Amino acid sequence: MSQPNPIAPSPVFCAVDTPSMDAADHLARRLRDLVGGLKLGLEFFGANGPEGVRRIAEHGHPLFLDLKLHDIPNTVASAVRALVPLEFSYLTLHAAGGRAMLEAAVQAAREAAEEAHVTRPRLLGVTVLTSLDESDLHDLGQDPSATRQADRLAFLAQDAGLDGVVCSAHEIAHLRRRHGPDFLLVVPGIRPSWSTHDDQKRVTTPAEALGLGANLLVIGRPITRATDPAEAARQIAEELAGVES
Ligand code: C5P
Repeated sequence: MSQPNPIAPSPVFCAVDTPSMDAADHLARRLRDLVGGLKLGLEFFGANGPEGVRRIAEHGHPLFLDLKLHDIPNTVASAVRALVPLEFSYLTLHAAGGRAMLEAAVQAAREAAEEAHVTRPRLLGVTVLTSLDESDLHDLGQDPSATRQADRLAFLAQDAGLDGVVCSAHEIAHLRRRHGPDFLLVVPGIRPSWSTHDDQKRVTTPAEALGLGANLLVIGRPITRATDPAEAARQIAEELAGVES
């Protein structure tokens, strides 16, 4: 049965794609109470490291560390153990790292969270990067259909105990049908109707993505590059209020 989407907490995570600590700090302050959380990626982590994550966490936003881990199981498990005490809500890893790597990460997250007395972060599998086209997938020896390849990796991720996957908006309906109501679908490439597309080729509005069954919406430039980021985030929240999910 469809329910009105509870907008508290908001499903919008703002992608803070900057190496600048000051810019990230400023944005975190301005977006307080206007988004569901902040996504910090390799660009921010490479420049500011764990100390930068701690500083952003002081603003009280739930955090999504988009570090796309991919290595042998022991190394990924150790990285997860090292990261978990930073206390964040979501972490990405490449589903293509294989079952043993994914299972090791799940176990490490559970154990490290218990030891550090923090809530276990949800682990999200990255399936097929949207930068890869059919010919890239062929070169990699993978199924040239990105949808089939994403579906296969999503099953592996789910089976290994991950909480969900990152997917594009046009895969939401298919993955929701195939993976059940509890598997998290996290969707970038979202553009409100009033914003520019930037380099995103296929875009969906926040309300459409939520209506299709997305759980979290990753939105970067429509908020971060807006003249008034707080106003842009407020407008998105208003558009989402009352959307049936
Ligand atoms: O600025 P924009 O809204 O396009 O930012 C989207 C965010 O989602 C960026 O951090 C980008 O790296 C990430 N992302 C994406 N497409 C994917 C996976 C992640 O745009 N397939």
